[in-house]
Amino acid sequence: MATILEPHTQHDAATAPLGNRTAECLNLGCGSRFVPSWTNVDIRSRSPHVIAHDLRRPLPFPDASFDFVYTSHVLEHFDRDDGETFLHEAARMLRPGGILRVVVPDVEQLARVYLDALQRADEGQPGADADYQWSLLMLFDQMLRDRSGGAMGDYLRQAHVPNRDFVVATSGTETESLMDRQVKQRRGLRRLFSRGGRERLWRRLFGSRFEAYRAGRFRQGGEIHRWMYDRYSLRQLFERCGLGEVRRCAAAESRWPGFHEAGLDIDSEGRVYKPESIYMEGVQPY
Ligand SMILES: C[S@@+](CC[C@H](N)C(=O)[O-])C[C@H]1O[C@@H](n2cnc3c(N)ncnc32)[C@H](O)[C@@H]1O
Repeated sequence: MATILEPHTQHDAATAPLGNRTAECLNLGCGSRFVPSWTNVDIRSRSPHVIAHDLRRPLPFPDASFDFVYTSHVLEHFDRDDGETFLHEAARMLRPGGILRVVVPDVEQLARVYLDALQRADEGQPGADADYQWSLLMLFDQMLRDRSGGAMGDYLRQAHVPNRDFVVATSGTETESLMDRQVKQRRGLRRLFSRGGRERLWRRLFGSRFEAYRAGRFRQGGEIHRWMYDRYSLRQLFERCGLGEVRRCAAAESRWPGFHEAGLDIDSEGRVYKPESIYMEGVQPY
């Protein structure tokens, strides 16, 4: 990591001088969306640019070592206490004047989409039933599922998704590739030795005990959402972490200069990856 050659002298993070050093940026829970020149962390690493680390444990970086800390669609995978500890840890690593940007699914927006779809479905508007079903899945499925992909995966794998445009508008461009993916049926011996085949065998041998073990193991695995946030609770959390100038942003807006060249929240055509999100930034005080 670069050494600090010159301290910040201004209180506006976006214009704070870095002196001769390069800005240090950290992406926590990056998944496959990371910038090679940043420090990237995820529980699993499939790239030399990603450090494998469980974010429920303290991070191996000194205090005040980063200028920009970014985390997208990770906080909601922790329970409330772990989530708060995680954001305190993120704030600890920020230099004075540094910026924390958090992106999470916005429970307010999901609830509004649901209420609107409910209204339209209840009035019998054409096509509204599919929107209503999808809006319910967006609200609850990732919290309640006990198998990978859950009912949202089933919905997106249908041969014909009746409200494709609504799904992309509410859940982002990532759902497009999932809808386009073909489901291949495994047959015969391949089926027996597939993961599903093995699970059927364990189920036959151990019955409901296997089912409880499998569901418990899945729910420990990191896919499910354990808490949800909105503009009010996320702001409070930022403030409890000691951050100031807390501001809700649009996907295409950041205090961090050049953030959008990183292509983390919007693609090169300006399309938002995860439109169901809330984007919030706060500044580490001097
Ligand atoms: C929904 S994905 C988001 C990935 C990426 N940030 C994005 O916005 O596309 C959640 C990511 O958090 C990671 N994750 C979940 N629990 C974690 C943990 N305890 N420690 C580290 N990473 C974790 C997962 O491996 C996954 O890559």
